[in-house]
Amino acid sequence: MNIVTVKDYTALSEKAARFVADRVNGKKELVLGLPTGSTPEGMYAKLVKLYREQKVDFSEVVSFNLDEYCGLRSDHPQSYHYYMNRNFFDHVNISEENRHIPIHSEYYEDESCSRYDQLIDRAGGIDLQVLGIGTNGHIAFNEPADYLIGGTHLVQLSEKTIEANSRFFNSRAEVPRRAITMGMATIMHAAEILLLAAGKNKARAIEKACSGVITTQLPASLLQLHNNCTLLLDREAASLL
Ligand code: F6R
Repeated sequence: MNIVTVKDYTALSEKAARFVADRVNGKKELVLGLPTGSTPEGMYAKLVKLYREQKVDFSEVVSFNLDEYCGLRSDHPQSYHYYMNRNFFDHVNISEENRHIPIHSEYYEDESCSRYDQLIDRAGGIDLQVLGIGTNGHIAFNEPADYLIGGTHLVQLSEKTIEANSRFFNSRAEVPRRAITMGMATIMHAAEILLLAAGKNKARAIEKACSGVITTQLPASLLQLHNNCTLLLDREAASLL
């Protein structure tokens, strides 16, 4: 893994945006895997700025988001659909038909998962996957477990994730208990991975993800098996390395 450390969140957001813009400008019809959460917010803001300055053009990009909560309408302010529109899609020129976010359908659960995988396959797989990391080492919503699932699937969120994500909701009780997520095989098949982590509360997960031990109990540790993976960290997230 390549580890790049920068001084703070602003520098991380700037560098992440330039990294993504570089890949977008470098390949026609780039297939871009996108995360949500608080970490990439700064990157999206800088990408929007680069777009307004005409330094990047998303018109041919095909995007696939990592995950979405089950049971939230797409116009719910905490849904990842809403997040993506507010932070990114509403401000750049990725065409609507080229944006994909998994959607949980109560009636067609298996179909909604396998259809998402088919769409990614048909697009030719992911060229650049941007990731965040949970304090428990999850990536997307692949939670620590005895085994991990390769394709898109439904997942029961761990107590730690519910706790961590409750900061976005009025109360812990409002946090959805289930989510739909891209699986580990799809993520690991991406040609290139860029993982972003900022802040002291990510330091332990980053330390374990780089320790040389590979375990499904810390999904991010599997990234050590990827041959083109960059961890972009601020000083605090890198403090235990
Ligand atoms: C969200 C996602 C999650 C987050 C992780 C960190 O699409 O895939 O794995 O990246 O929970 O979230 P933040 O950045 O809010 O700490």
